[in-house]
Amino acid sequence: MSNLPTHIAIIMDGNGRWASLRGLNRTKGHEKGAETVRTITTFCSNHPEIKRLTLYAFSTENWKRPRLEVEFLMKLLERYLKKELPIYLEENVRFEPIGDLSPFSASLRKTITRVEKATSHCTGLIQSLALNYGGRDEIARAAERLNRDSLPITVESLGDALDSRHDVDLLIRTGGDYRLSNFLLWQSAYAELFFTDTLWPDFVEEELIAIIEKFKGVERRFGGLQ
Ligand code: IPE
Ligand code: IPE
Ligand code: MG
Repeated sequence: MSNLPTHIAIIMDGNGRWASLRGLNRTKGHEKGAETVRTITTFCSNHPEIKRLTLYAFSTENWKRPRLEVEFLMKLLERYLKKELPIYLEENVRFEPIGDLSPFSASLRKTITRVEKATSHCTGLIQSLALNYGGRDEIARAAERLNRDSLPITVESLGDALDSRHDVDLLIRTGGDYRLSNFLLWQSAYAELFFTDTLWPDFVEEELIAIIEKFKGVERRFGGLQ
């Protein structure tokens, strides 16, 4: 069973273009994208071999966007989490944020912590949302923590000090671009990378199943032989 992805990570890209193609405001694409988060999370929670789903929701670089779009994304996130809580509980999904939450409003941070605590007993899928997340920022914060505690910096200690200590098996990017955009740089060292032109709001379970099927056929050598 070792060739099944236990940790899937997704760069959910293409919300804005999905909306623009329809003559809609970019915010509509983010709203539709939030629905895709729900369907893909439900799919993964129904497949117990998938233990962890990490979704890139807001990067450390996304603050560069117009103020109104950033404000909308913050509101959408809060709205999404509040609405999602009963569904997390019903589906036994544990919510775990990663990233530096400190720049978020007190209200948003409170909601994030509330949902995290309320689902901490859930034993099914772990849905990790990357919020104000950047791979470089995460590594720098981890190193700073070790330095503060005067601990030696090794691959193990640094890996353990990260927000997400879990290697990615399968990394998917929607939206047609071939880049990592600062997502899970450390954890993706040996991830299998899949890129699709599908815009995130159009991404459906069938496409994820097809990607997982391809993933299963890949021989992962981790630097060894056969
Ligand atoms: C991804 O979709 C969602 C976030 C980065 C918040 P985009 O908003 O980047 O959509 P495109 O890439 O502009 O189409
Ligand atoms: C990556 O998408 C970030 C998220 C999906 C949250 P971006 O749209 O921000 O990435 P770039 O700017 O195309 O690299
Ligand atoms: Mg984008």
